[in-house]
Amino acid sequence: MADTASEKPEENATEPEVATEKAEEAQPPKEMRAVVTTAFGGLKYVKLAKKPEPVAGDGEVLVRVKSCGINFLDLMLVKQGADDNSTKSPLILGFECAGEIEAAGENVTTYKPGDKVVLLTESKAWAELVVIPTKYVYKLPVGMSFQDAAAITMNFVTAYILLFDIGGLQKGKSVLVHSAAGGVGQAIAQLCKTVEDVTVLGVCSQTKHEAIKDTFTHLFDRSQDYSAEVKKISPDGVDLVLDCLCGEDCNRGYSLLKPMGKYVLYGVTNVTGEAFRLFNLFGNAKAKWQMTKVNPINPIKLYEENKSVAGFNLRHLLFQQGQHDYVRSVVEKVLHLWQNGKIKSVIDSTWALEDIVEAMQKIHDRKNVGKIVIDMSMEPKPKPPPQVNKETQTN
Ligand SMILES: NC(=O)c1ccc[n+]([C@@H]2O[C@H](COP(=O)([O-])OP(=O)(O)OC[C@H]3O[C@@H](n4cnc5c(N)ncnc54)[C@H](OP(=O)(O)O)[C@@H]3O)[C@@H](O)[C@H]2O)c1
Repeated sequence: MADTASEKPEENATEPEVATEKAEEAQPPKEMRAVVTTAFGGLKYVKLAKKPEPVAGDGEVLVRVKSCGINFLDLMLVKQGADDNSTKSPLILGFECAGEIEAAGENVTTYKPGDKVVLLTESKAWAELVVIPTKYVYKLPVGMSFQDAAAITMNFVTAYILLFDIGGLQKGKSVLVHSAAGGVGQAIAQLCKTVEDVTVLGVCSQTKHEAIKDTFTHLFDRSQDYSAEVKKISPDGVDLVLDCLCGEDCNRGYSLLKPMGKYVLYGVTNVTGEAFRLFNLFGNAKAKWQMTKVNPINPIKLYEENKSVAGFNLRHLLFQQGQHDYVRSVVEKVLHLWQNGKIKSVIDSTWALEDIVEAMQKIHDRKNVGKIVIDMSMEPKPKPPPQVNKETQTN
């Protein structure tokens, strides 16, 4: 015979209990503010939205976000989607943020509520709360602000790997870098200063030269023929070219290398808009090759000319190739350099979450010098009052 009590447990519940359960059931899920892109194609699709609060699962932590970093990568994603078509819209944006652990999921032993952390995540960072596996979370050194953490982590980790792990930077060498005034550009300039007698050559918009003149040995206007200018200063060329532009600049960069020099591609800023959309549409290496106008590099040519070519993509390394232990070791070195006063954040400006589209527009318009960060405690800028149409106005 069936046990009626276990089949119908609610019949045994007292009336107030039933009422409480029903009230709990009726509670709408808690919501948080988050920045989403509803489609790929431009900043017009970026909006502040309400999203359900996430909950930490096994091996994850829930982080209350205090500050977020805006990277060129975010702009590229919003414009045209991920380079490998790996993301679908709508999605919560943001690769980098810093904050405080609010809750730890099951089997998390290395972090506890209250820990101050910075994290790198494949999207989802620009929200009040983020859930993330602990392998992408790094504890802040004592005294580091959330803004500094959000301004430093992605840029300096990229710069460190480019200069030291790939570039093998040594005393007396020369380095050429594009987008010299930007977040990564300024990180590269600072890290070069940690090595004796390094010549740092930067290319960027002329309007920024005054602001960054102390951080570079030579600066060139991006709209001029920088190759000719570099050759005037250093007829033999340079030891390391760090190229985040791609296209014709790959060929220029390669041709500027000294014997034993190395060219590293770490961005495709030139390959935006229509070219990128077509590449994604036809998605093959040949299409990309033609569109970016890059001369093919033959290993025999490298052998004959004593040159090296490399590539670097942090997002792929971390989220697709599983190299989180290596990235953690670099984050730790970078935070250590900060602790020892060897590097510091270069913050262009700080914005409220509500003003994120304006902040991203500043990067799009090439107006930033250093990093643009979001501070979750900031009030949005006052908006101009709505225009009143006098014809329809009533007395
Ligand atoms: N491989 C990686 O893992 C990795 C990681 C981080 C960043 N990156 C790359 O590093 C580069 C710099 O990133 P960031 O976040 O530090 O950005 P950023 O340099 O702070 O800002 C972008 C700057 O790029 C320059 N720029 C060149 N072409 C542009 C275009 N078509 N539209 C707008 N700006 C353009 C502008 O400076 P000027 O006008 O002064 O040249 C602009 O201010 C980007 O290419 C990014 O994709 C790569």
